[in-house]
Amino acid sequence: MYGGHMGLAWRNLLRLHARNTLPAWYGNPNIIYFHKARAAIRYVSQLLDIHPGNKILIPSYNCGVEVDPLLKSGASVSMFRQDRTGRIDVDDIERKIDADTRVIYVNQYFGFPQPLERIRRLCDERGIYLIEDCALSLLSKDNHGVPLGSTGDLAFFNLYKTLPLPDGGALMINNPKLVRDNLTMLAPPRLDVLIETLKLCKNSLLRQLPAANALYGSIKRRKNRNIQDDGPSAESRQTFPDMPASYYYDEHLNLRRMSRLSHHLLERLDFEQVVQQRRTNFLQYLQCLAGTKHIEFLYHDLPEGVCPLSFPIFVDNPDLISRKLYQHAIVALHWWHGYHRALPPTDFDEACKLKDHLLVLPVHQQLNDQHIDYIIRSLRRVIDD
Ligand SMILES: Cc1ncc(COP(=O)(O)O)c(C=O)c1O
Repeated sequence: MYGGHMGLAWRNLLRLHARNTLPAWYGNPNIIYFHKARAAIRYVSQLLDIHPGNKILIPSYNCGVEVDPLLKSGASVSMFRQDRTGRIDVDDIERKIDADTRVIYVNQYFGFPQPLERIRRLCDERGIYLIEDCALSLLSKDNHGVPLGSTGDLAFFNLYKTLPLPDGGALMINNPKLVRDNLTMLAPPRLDVLIETLKLCKNSLLRQLPAANALYGSIKRRKNRNIQDDGPSAESRQTFPDMPASYYYDEHLNLRRMSRLSHHLLERLDFEQVVQQRRTNFLQYLQCLAGTKHIEFLYHDLPEGVCPLSFPIFVDNPDLISRKLYQHAIVALHWWHGYHRALPPTDFDEACKLKDHLLVLPVHQQLNDQHIDYIIRSLRRVIDD
């Protein structure tokens, strides 16, 4: 059984005709495709003329990868509070707005909508831009059927987290005053696209060839035979571990466009199937993991319209459990581990708990009920170990 990453969608690759487009799904033609969403974030600092002396308010629970291009603009970046589910504390935002504030940056986590009405009003009253980071919320809607990403002046999406593409970040421009028609973009880094495409091919072969899958699993088990709990838990440390080096922004990504292969696949994938299968898988976890010892859910239900990125749970030691599940060929990540070294959320306990304890189980559209059942059984075994 294979609970790993998404593989290349061969049938869609070979489809002659396009099936759908993001502009049609979002009802907005103003979408620009970048190699990565972080390059779109970097571009937006220039588009909005963000410069030293300006202030940007960002969530205390952040990946760090989205923060770095904002810091590159020279603006000062301050954090606001969220509760333990990542829900924005709008009062805290209001307290922190001052005359220098140019942007409020919000994250839509795992496909679940944030309360944005009041923040939108605050932005309109005070001439502040609202940026909606939907890197984790592609194809998700709120319970009125409005796609996430429609409220901000601008919204970003990471395409390859939800869809099996080698690259792709989209910038959607909702504020007509920000639309430019003279953007010249550069080719994507070819080697990166090739490597990611080969990984997609490998994942799809592992899924389709049981013998290769079994061999791969046994190699993983052998390699990771002696997994141990490595050291002090998050609560007992005094410092904030750094985020991975690849999360720091590389200026070579500036204005790099998305690959042609990703464009081709994007237009041929079945968006409705993606949403439905992800929801079905999420609901299976909700039902089957309820009451399991040593895990706590981040979300206790699945509102209408949500396209979940994954199934997030709190566990004591997400690194250890992630490595043990990897031995079972299951990719369950310790989500957003590590902190941007310039911005540790010193005064934000809820953000630290999310950073230090969240493990995400895969729900993607290439997994069916048997895969999810296998992941649940393996997780129980690993937790009881
Ligand atoms: C919240 C958030 N924003 C932006 C990004 C950047 O996406 P990309 O990898 O396409 O640059 C990520 C990537 O992990 C993210 O988690």
